Amino acid sequence: MTDGHERYLQEVLISEERLRQRIAELGKEITTDYQGCPGLVLVCVLKGGILFLADLMRHIQVPHGIDFLAVSSYGVGARQSQGEVRIMMDLSSQISGQHVLIIEDIIDSGHTLRYVMEVLQARRPASLKLCALLNKVSRRRVNIQVDYTGFEIEDRFVFGYGLDLDERYRNLPFVGVADLSQSGDA
Ligand code: IMP
Ligand code: MG
Repeated sequence: MTDGHERYLQEVLISEERLRQRIAELGKEITTDYQGCPGLVLVCVLKGGILFLADLMRHIQVPHGIDFLAVSSYGVGARQSQGEVRIMMDLSSQISGQHVLIIEDIIDSGHTLRYVMEVLQARRPASLKLCALLNKVSRRRVNIQVDYTGFEIEDRFVFGYGLDLDERYRNLPFVGVADLSQSGDA
């Protein structure tokens, strides 16, 4: 039995083991940096950030809450993020006075995160930082500071470990490079 992802998989870019190791390191780093800090809340950007959040939070040994935010991203089949971003689902709690750490799957042009950070900053958190699993530095169009980065990657379309290929295969335990010639809109 197979879910058919092999057809779209050019290569495994980051294995399950490398993800595990790096995420444990990030968790340690965050634990050190937020030691004794009251009111830490991890804000996961849906949907891509869920696997990263679930694994990372197990390595953060500081009391913290979690919350979720959904933003419009690439539509099915689209591979470019438009400059326009919208909030599709807002946080469930107020963040004023809280130490907010945004948990995101990937930063590409930076449009999405710049918008999210502006919206959250306006709510006056005690601090606002950004943790991204993947960072496509060469694709950056707007300047944003990434406080914690899992991996810097080249400009290739990736999927798995939370990232989708037309809304599928977020469940893969590794990050793979997509063979877009197989997915219909190349
Ligand atoms: P940005 O606004 O261009 O930085 O795009 C960020 C969003 O685009 C991410 O949160 C992802 O949902 C999506 N994205 C960017 N690159 C990829 C990729 O290689 N694979 C899957 N989704 C991606
Ligand atoms: Mg996506």
